[in-house]
Amino acid sequence: MKFLVLNGVNLNLTGKREKGVYGSETLESINRELEEDCEKQGHKVDFFQSNLEGEICTKIQEAEGNYDGIVLNAGAFTHYSFAIRDAIAAISVPVVEVHMSNVYAREEFRRKSVLTEVCKGEILGFGKKSYLLALRSFTL
Ligand code: DQA
Repeated sequence: MKFLVLNGVNLNLTGKREKGVYGSETLESINRELEEDCEKQGHKVDFFQSNLEGEICTKIQEAEGNYDGIVLNAGAFTHYSFAIRDAIAAISVPVVEVHMSNVYAREEFRRKSVLTEVCKGEILGFGKKSYLLALRSFTL
């Protein structure tokens, strides 16, 4: 199977920003670990990060027919991007929403995701393991 791990706005700063919340490991390092895990399971995985909402939408659109599942941490886009929500609704590829932090234990505005309703499921609060669990969910 082939998966896509998509990271949205500010996730490129993982390992450098708010280390108490997101940890000190870089996105690059997390991605290598995910890649190794996928390889061990006999699956392929691609990675993409962008701070631009439209680029995330384009990647989601292009996933149709090319991937068996998408793991999406949209960052702050999660809380207000109807464009990303519509892109997810437009494709048949299952999308699992991911957050490293427990968004329910943080500021009020983080409790609302406009994406969850159109996603297959949501995994949050497990740090980098949220991505790993989301990827594994496609094959369990
Ligand atoms: C996040 C949570 C979001 O609220 C925040 O804007 C992020 C990261 C997470 O992984 O915990 O950028 O998606």
